[in-house]
Amino acid sequence: MSEKHDAPGIPTTGHVWDDDLADLTNPPPKWWMLGLAASALFCVVYFIYYPSFPISSTGSFTKGIGGWTAIKEMEADKGEVDAVRGKFETRLKGLTPAAILADSELTEYVKRSGKVLFGDNCAACHGQNGIGTHDKQGLFAPILNDDDWLYGGKIEEIHASIENGRQGMMMAGKDMLSATEIDTLANAVAKGQPNATPLFAEKGCTGCHGPDGKGIQAMGSANLTDKVWRFDSSVEGIKYTISYGVNSGDPKARVAVMPNFKEAGKLSDAELKKLAVYVYKFGGGQADAPAASKAPEAGVAK
Ligand code: HEC
Ligand code: HEC
Repeated sequence: MSEKHDAPGIPTTGHVWDDDLADLTNPPPKWWMLGLAASALFCVVYFIYYPSFPISSTGSFTKGIGGWTAIKEMEADKGEVDAVRGKFETRLKGLTPAAILADSELTEYVKRSGKVLFGDNCAACHGQNGIGTHDKQGLFAPILNDDDWLYGGKIEEIHASIENGRQGMMMAGKDMLSATEIDTLANAVAKGQPNATPLFAEKGCTGCHGPDGKGIQAMGSANLTDKVWRFDSSVEGIKYTISYGVNSGDPKARVAVMPNFKEAGKLSDAELKKLAVYVYKFGGGQADAPAASKAPEAGVAK
């Protein structure tokens, strides 16, 4: 170690390496010192103004003189959101679902805000975004994002389904039909040609499913010609449906009940309207205008 280095006259800390690499005691630049003082001052002010220092192990702390709390900040933010929502919600209240649908700004609002409402109340049975649960839970709730409807896909019909609930009924056939008759009917239905057997009309199936077997929307009776299945598409499965019926009261009946949300009182009128628009906007909603313009798609599950 020696005192030889490039800046003679400036004292060193005493650390010199390789004779010419020395640790000088120059003061740091002024701007840097000012910055240091300013940040120290900032810390002191911040500590006094905001809640900062823990005082005890029970969780108390210095509250700060500014009165800031995380809760107050959150409430202020929420207030802003509520103010924006409030405008839309007030407009919604006075409108029918069809009128909401006609207003693109409101529809956009419902599309975004309806997600939670649908998720909380409907998705357990109908699946997120109405894609269905594919009967994993045996709830037999129909898919809502296609254009195949039991009770109709017009906005008023969807609204009525949600408000009042739906419960199709088909009686158990096992006491009225012989095993051979059930077999014949099931095979014809499985092919999508219920009228291939005269039994379909003779045994009164046409009374609910219509003379052409295409279903009657007022009854929610399934279309038996489109190969879109509510329950089970196998011949065995169809025999089961015909034997025990749907919501028939028979202990083995297929059960498919859409709850009555208005009666349950859990959802407000505005929420029921929002849900109707939300479901319509899954993409399967049908306009009032030329009804016959769109051919029903076959081969999709209901
Ligand atoms: C407990 C399960 C369940 C819940 C919860 C439920 N649904 Fe349903 N939903 C059903 C079933 C089952 C049907 C079919 C009823 C039938 O077959 O007669 C149905 C039918 C419908 C229909 C008529 C579909 C058509 O093809 O015509 C609509 C629309 C509907 N639900 C919307 C909703 C909305 C919106 C919610 C939430 C507010 C909801 N559902 C909650 C089970 C449920
Ligand atoms: C009282 C009215 C009524 C009568 C009579 C009736 N059905 Fe039904 N049927 C329904 C309803 C309603 C549904 C749909 C239930 C639902 O989806 O909740 C249905 C559903 C079905 C299904 C299930 C379709 C699917 O997509 O899984 C089959 C199969 C069926 N009916 C066959 C028959 C046959 C065969 C007869 C005559 C023996 C018959 N039905 C008589 C009302 C009836």
